Amino acid sequence: MTELIEALNAPTADAGTGPVRVGDPVSRIDGRAKVTGQARYAAEHPAEDLAYGVVVNATIARGRIVGFALDAALAVPGVLDILTHLNKPKTRSIGLFYKDMTAPGGTPFKPLHDGDIAYSGQPVALVVAETFEAARYAASLVEVNYAVEPHDTRLLANLHRAYKPSRLKAGYSPPPKEKGDARAAFAAAPVQIEAEYYSGVEHHNPMELFATTVVRGPDGHLTIHDKTQSSQNSRWYVSHVFGLSKDKVTVRNTYVGGAFGSGLRPQYQLPLAVMAALQLERSVRVVLTRQQMFTFGHRPETLQRVKLAADRDGTLRSISHHAVAETSRFEDYVEVVVNWSGQLYRCDNIRLGYDLVDLDQYSPMDMRAPGAAHGVHALEVAMDELAHKLDMDPLALRLKNYAERNPMDDLPYSTKELRACYEQGAERFGWAERPLAPRSMQEGTELIGWGMATGTWDAMQMFARASAVLHADGRLVVSSAATDIGTGTYTVMAQIAAAAMGLPLEQVTFQLGDSTLPVAPIEGGSSHVTTVGSAVEGVCEKLQRRLFRLARAMPGTALRKVRFEEMEFVDGTLRRAVDPSGAVRLVDVLAHANEARIEEKYLMLPHVFKQKKYLRATHSAVFCEVRVDELMGTVRVTRVVSAIAAGRIINAKTAHSQVSGAVVWGIGQALHEETHTDHRLGRFMNHNLSEYHVSVNADIHDIDVIFVQEDDRVVSRLGAKGVGEIGIVGVSAAISNAIFHATGRRVRSTPMTPDKVM
Ligand code: MOS
Repeated sequence: MTELIEALNAPTADAGTGPVRVGDPVSRIDGRAKVTGQARYAAEHPAEDLAYGVVVNATIARGRIVGFALDAALAVPGVLDILTHLNKPKTRSIGLFYKDMTAPGGTPFKPLHDGDIAYSGQPVALVVAETFEAARYAASLVEVNYAVEPHDTRLLANLHRAYKPSRLKAGYSPPPKEKGDARAAFAAAPVQIEAEYYSGVEHHNPMELFATTVVRGPDGHLTIHDKTQSSQNSRWYVSHVFGLSKDKVTVRNTYVGGAFGSGLRPQYQLPLAVMAALQLERSVRVVLTRQQMFTFGHRPETLQRVKLAADRDGTLRSISHHAVAETSRFEDYVEVVVNWSGQLYRCDNIRLGYDLVDLDQYSPMDMRAPGAAHGVHALEVAMDELAHKLDMDPLALRLKNYAERNPMDDLPYSTKELRACYEQGAERFGWAERPLAPRSMQEGTELIGWGMATGTWDAMQMFARASAVLHADGRLVVSSAATDIGTGTYTVMAQIAAAAMGLPLEQVTFQLGDSTLPVAPIEGGSSHVTTVGSAVEGVCEKLQRRLFRLARAMPGTALRKVRFEEMEFVDGTLRRAVDPSGAVRLVDVLAHANEARIEEKYLMLPHVFKQKKYLRATHSAVFCEVRVDELMGTVRVTRVVSAIAAGRIINAKTAHSQVSGAVVWGIGQALHEETHTDHRLGRFMNHNLSEYHVSVNADIHDIDVIFVQEDDRVVSRLGAKGVGEIGIVGVSAAISNAIFHATGRRVRSTPMTPDKVM
C-alpha cells in the first residue's frame, strides 16, 4: 500500500506522547493541525487555474423550466460558462447510476438532468467563473422561467394518503409483527394513556459548508476533495454517474468539519463540480452557502401516536406505537422510529406501525440517531405520562418493567448495563430527593422540574479492510478509507494500533480519507470504532504474529518453544509476558530479517451468525433539571446527567466529548431546532443560523457524563459498541418530562418553544 501521509496531511501525535492503552483519555492528535489551520477542508485545497462554481436554485416547488435568460449573467467579466440541463456534459441518465451506497429506495434525484422541478431549492444551473465573486454575482443575474404546477408540502393535511413503504422499493425492514394482542390488552388494563407527539423538520448544521474541489491533473485524472462521510461512496457515485473508471478518480475527505449524517450521501455540489471540470477541462470548486445546505435532506417531520396500558402496580400490559413521517415524491426515505418501543420494556402485547406521506420536497436524510431521536422521545414521554397517572416515580416504572431479554423476539441482549445506568445516573443526579408531584419546586420566579428518560441505539458492526506497515525505524502506518468527521477517528485508530503493538503513540500514523485506501464503510451509525477499530486491531495482530515468527528465527532466541498467546508487545519490544528478560526490539526483528518494511493486510468480517443470536444495542439513562419561567415560557436546562452503556470505551476523552456534544444537540432538539415551511411557497423559510436556532453557550449549563462498565465481545473484538449517537437519544424526552414536573404542563410537540411552554 502506497503511503500517502504527506498528501493526506495525516496527523501524528507530538513527540514524547509515549505509550497509550485502550481506554486512556488521549487528546486528539489532529487538534494542533485543526487549530493552526494546517488541516485543509474540502474548500481549502489549492489548485492551479481553479475555476469557481456557484449554484442557482429553483424558486418553485413543482413544475417545469421553460427557459433561461442568461445573457446578463454571461456578460459578467470572468464568467466561463453556465451549465444547465440544456447544455451539461454527458452523464449516464438512468436513475440506477445515481444510486450512492446509502440511497433510500426509489429513483435518486439527478442534478441538471431535465427541466422538471421536484422541490424548492433544487439546483437548476451552475455558473462557473474565474473568481468566486464573479460567479456569485452572475448567479444572481440568472433568470429562470417556469411553468408552475401545484405543490403540496403539508404532512398533517395529507395523513389520509399515508402508505406503508414497500419493502421492494425501500429495501425497508418493517416494524416487527405484533406481539400478543395490544388492542385487547389496552382495553382490558385499568390504567391507560394515549397521546400524539409531533416533531418538526430539523436540519443538520455542521460548521463546515458543503464543498467540493475537483483538481484536474494534466492527464485528466480527477483528485476530488469532497465533504463526505465516505470517500469511497463519493468515488463510486462519480464513477457511475460520469462513466469514469476507478483509476481516473480519487476522492479525498481528510478533514471533515462535522456532518451528523448530512454527508452520508454525496450532495449535489459534487456532481456539479465534476460536470464543470469535465466540461471546462480544468479544476473547479463549488461551495454551497448555508442557505443551500437547507436544500438537501433533513430530519423528517413526524407525527406519532403512543398508547400504553398498565396494571395499578405499574406492570406494562400493552404498548402501541405508530408513526407517520414525510418523504419525497421520488424516494421512500425510511428510518427506524417505532421499533425501539419493542426493545426497551418487558411487555406481552406490543404493536408497532410506520407509514410515509410523499410530499413535494427533497428526501429526508439520516440525522444523528435517525428515528431514535424522535421515536424514543415519544415512548419516553408517554412512559412519564403513565408514571404520573399511576402516581409512580418515573424511574421506578422503568425498573418495574426492566427487560432482561428483548421483549419482541425473546433474544438475549449481547450486553445491557442499563440498570447500572439508571442506578449510577440517579445517584449522581440526586434523583431520590425528587418530590413526586409536579409544581413542587420553585426558586424566585422559576419553577424547577426534574425529569428522566431512557435512551437506546443500535450497536452495529460492518466489514472493513485495513493495512499496516511497520518500518525498519519503528514507525507504524495503518490505513483504511475511514472518515473522521470530528469524532476522533484519527486518534482512536492510532491509539488502538499503538496499544496493540506496544509502540509510543507518536510512532503510529493512521491514514484515512482517501478512496484508494483499503475498503472502509461509510462513517455512520456509530459503527466506525466497532468496524474500522476491529480491522485495525486485527491487522495489528497479523503483524504481531509475523514479527513473532521472524523473532523465533533469530539466533540465540529464547522464544523457540513459546506460543504466540504467551507473548506481549510493550515498550517497542515483543517478549514473553511471564519473562520480560528475553525481550526483543521490533526494530531488531526487522533488521535481522533484513526488511526495510513489513506489511500486513486484513479483512474484518463481522461474526454475523453469532451476532444474530443477540439484540445488540447501546443504552443510556438521562436525568435533567430545568428551570421554567412560566410568564415568559422560557426553559433553562441547568443540569444533565447522562449515564451511558456503550461497551468498552476506547478513548475516555473523545467518547466524553461525543456524548456531551450529543446532549447539547438534545437540548437543541427539545427547545430550539425547527425548520419552518411556508407551504404557499413549499419552501423552508428560516434557512440560516440566525433564524434556525441551535443551542449556544448561554443555553448550556452543567453536563455530566458517566460511562458505566460494559464489555461486549459479541459486537466487536474490542468490546466496544460505539458512542456517537446514543448521547442524543432520550435527552429531549428527559427535558420534556422535567418541564412537566416543573409546570404540570405536558408539551407534546418539539421543539418546546416559549409559545408552547407558557
Ligand atoms: Mo450518522 S446520522 O449515522 O451519520
